[in-house]
This record gives sequence, structure tokens and C-alpha cells, in this order.
Amino acid sequence: MRKSLHVIFVFLFLTCFFVKAQKENLVAVNQLVIIANNPGPVISKDIYGHFSEHLGRCIYEGLWVGPDSKIPNTYGIRNDVLFALREMKIPNLRWPGGCFADTYHWKDGIGPKEKRASIVNTHWGGVTEDNSFGTHEFMKLTELLGCDAYINGNVGSGTVKEMAEWIEYLTSGSDSPMTRLRKENGREQPWKVKYFAIGNENWGCGGNMTDEFYANVMRQFSTYLNNYGENRLYRVACGPSDFNVAWTETLMKDPATRGRFQGLSIHYYSITDGWNNKGSATDFDERLWFQTMRANVQMDQVIRGHEAIMDRYDTQKTKGLVVDEWGNWFNVEPGTNPGFLYQQNTMRDAVTAAIHLNIFNQHADRVKVANLAQMVNVLQSVILTKDDKMILTPTYHVFRMFRVHQDAQLITTSLRCEDYTNGDRKVPAISASASVDKEGKMHVSLANLNPNKAITLTCPVIGETYKKVTGEVLTSDAMNAMNTFETPETVKPAVFNGFTYKDGVLNITMPSKSVIVLELVK
Ligand code: AHR
Repeated sequence: MRKSLHVIFVFLFLTCFFVKAQKENLVAVNQLVIIANNPGPVISKDIYGHFSEHLGRCIYEGLWVGPDSKIPNTYGIRNDVLFALREMKIPNLRWPGGCFADTYHWKDGIGPKEKRASIVNTHWGGVTEDNSFGTHEFMKLTELLGCDAYINGNVGSGTVKEMAEWIEYLTSGSDSPMTRLRKENGREQPWKVKYFAIGNENWGCGGNMTDEFYANVMRQFSTYLNNYGENRLYRVACGPSDFNVAWTETLMKDPATRGRFQGLSIHYYSITDGWNNKGSATDFDERLWFQTMRANVQMDQVIRGHEAIMDRYDTQKTKGLVVDEWGNWFNVEPGTNPGFLYQQNTMRDAVTAAIHLNIFNQHADRVKVANLAQMVNVLQSVILTKDDKMILTPTYHVFRMFRVHQDAQLITTSLRCEDYTNGDRKVPAISASASVDKEGKMHVSLANLNPNKAITLTCPVIGETYKKVTGEVLTSDAMNAMNTFETPETVKPAVFNGFTYKDGVLNITMPSKSVIVLELVK
């Protein structure tokens, strides 16, 4: 208690000191005060989660090529993608949608492949889906990735019985028609399923429901989602998108409703130039770069809005906010199927990823899960594939660099920084967060949003001293630098030496449009 009071006092004193000193131009403009000896909440590893929908070439081609493919694979899952994802340390994977989830009937995707029903993917390109990737293939993928399953159930066009049976099929160890069916299909032991969502975007593609109607339906479905054996489902209720806090209020206000879920989802996409013309992923000027940054930093406001409602009804923070779709959404690449949402990925996306992950870290007490949309070949992907080739995107590198925050404890930081301006609009030029891991190593992750200017940041590190500091940086000459199948390593991380650490103060020179992670070892 005395230690905490002391830390708070030092923190307030320093904050007042820096505000005053800044006003009087006595200290550098850009300061990140780091209180290293009073770690806060654990940053759930699951905010580094991913999302794979039956959409375009995400599942088919991107992940699943089938066991008979010439592309090297393990049980049908392509090895190149698998190995790259393992390196990134993926904690959980959401599947099968998205909008697809509320059209998906899981029994179509089990049993002998030649007997599986074909369906038309009405949301995404109207292509015929042969269901060769189903429950067993997805659970094998999670096993191979060493990650948890996040399954999204069908509320919009499914039944309570269908959803209840899926959970039984997946997780029950008792003898029953569902578990016998599972065994007939080659899986003796039940799987573990950590996250299960009760519908997706049920205010839209998941049934166009009102908040009150969905709340009642969710209560009904949730009642039959059993915990079998030791499996404990973390039930995710469908939340709103963007700033629709009224939906959150409806789901949170009644104890009988909020008692039926552990997490509430929100979706927020960074839309640069309006939904009708979202702009090119690769061909943009600084005005559009700025607009993307502005849309990115707004994620903080979105979270704060929903957090405020949740805090009112759940003071102990027992319910998690699940940001299970986020990322940049641009126009599809010219000449590709508009329903496949295939977009390239540049340095702009890397900065986007860093901003979001820093925001999620900073909200560690409430944000418990987050999933980038989407993992391979769709929207802001970490991996792109073309036939037997694969490239890692700039976004991939940020996830790989930031993996050090997974399950580490958030450290209190106070950032004061210059603005990055464009015309008469502005955003903070720096994004930051810090954590301390189980071994006592501290990691500071930073992004410089300004594409034209290097920025020097001064970081007094309070309460601990460190013997060794190392760093990694991701940056590029051009705003739209990207990796292509011809030049796959244009944007890749490098050792970062642009800092000093003396007398407990880090001085960092951040290149323009850069993402940096520093490691401080005692
Ligand atoms: O990620 C693409 C789509 O965006 C998802 O299917 C849907 O949930 C959201 O509207």
C-alpha cells in the first residue's frame, strides 16, 4: 500500500513537473514517463488473436490446400503459412466467420469429404463451398498452431439445438449421439474450446435484429451452451460496431442478460475515405495516410465509450471486451473478385497494427480478446499467398515484434508528445505502451505516425535500473512500401540502435513512419 502511494506520488509529481517544464520550454516536447516498478493488469495474450473466415482465399488456398496438394502441407494445411504463424505466436484463432458464421451449418463440414454438402457462400463472392474444411480441420489447425479455438456460432439462421449439439460434439466426453458421431469421424477425445461467440453482427448480416431482440435470443442460446467435463466456455455475446453504445447498454444493464456471457464483442474497422470508396491499399498520398492514422487512433475513443457503460454495470471488470474484428479495410486489389476482399499491405498497415496493439495493451483491464481481420489473403492480412508462394506483410512483422507483450503486465506510462498535423487536423504523433514479463524484462513498443519526420522521445524510467537495452525497428523509405511476391523483403525488421540509456533515461530517435520495440534487461 505504502509502495503504491509512493509510486502514485512520484507519478503525479513527475507529470506536474513535465507539464510545467514543457510550458516553460525546459524539457523536450516528447516525453514518455515509465513507472517500471509498479506493474498493473496482465495484458491478455488473446488480444494478439487472429480471424479466419470462409471468405475469398483465406481458408481455401491461404490455409487449406488439402492433403493431396503439391504444396507441402501437414494434414492439408500448408506448411509455409503454418511455420510463419507459429513464429508469430498466435494465441487464438476465430472461425468460421464473420458474416459466414450465421450461414454456416456445422454438420455440413464433418464426415467423409465426398459426402459433405456443398453450399453457396452468399456473403462472399457467391462461390460454391465444398465444406472440405470443417470442424475437424479447424481443430487440427489450432492444434498445429498451438493456439486456442475461438468458434463463432450461428444464431442468425441456425437453431438452438444445432449450436448446443456442436458444443457437445466438440467438448463432451460422455457417451451420446454427438460424441459417437465424433468418434465415427475419427476423433476419440473431446477437444478444448476456449471461446465461443453467440452469433456475429446480429444487428446486420447475422439477422438484422434489434438490441432488445438479440439480448433475448442470446439468453436463450446461451442457456444450452454447456460446459462439459473440464471445458469452460468463455461465451462471447454479439456487441455493436463503432460508437453504438446503446447496444452495449442493452446487453449490460440487466443482470440476467449479462449473466449469460463472459465477453461482449465490438467491431471497428479503420475506414480511410468512407465506406463507398475506401481507397487503394497501396496508392495513396499523405492526406489519405493521415486519415488512416486518424481512424486508427479513434479505436481508443471507441473502446472508452463501451468501457464506460461496462464499468457502470460491472465495476469488478468481470466481463471482457472482445474486439474480434479490427483493421484497415481498403478497396480490393484491381482485377480481383470484389467479394474476396483481397488487399495488399504496406508500411501504413504496420503503423496501424502498432497503434491498435498499443491501445489494446493500455486497456488491458477490460480488453481481453482481439482479432485482426483477417489472417491470410483477406483485408489487413499478416500473410499473402499466390499458388505455392507466400509473403509476410509489414503487419506480420509488427505482430511478431509485439508478441513479447503477451501475458506480460502492463506498466504505467504517461505520454506527452507533439502532434502530427495535416491541414487543420491533428493526431498525437506517437503511440506507446510498455509491459514487464515474467522474467522481469521490460518491453516498450512505439510508433511514429509522422511519415515525414524523425522524432526524439525522452523516457525517464522510474523505479528500476536496467543493464542492457536492445531494440528492433520496422520502417521504410516510402509510405506505401510493401512486400511483393517478387520483392518479399522490402519491409522487414532491423536491429535498432537509435537510442541511448543513461542515468535511468532512455533517449530514442524514432525514424519517420516507424514501429520500434525496445527490450530492457536487469
Ligand atoms: O471481415 C469481413 C466482414 O466484416 C465480416 O464477415 C463481418 O463480420 C464484418 O462486417
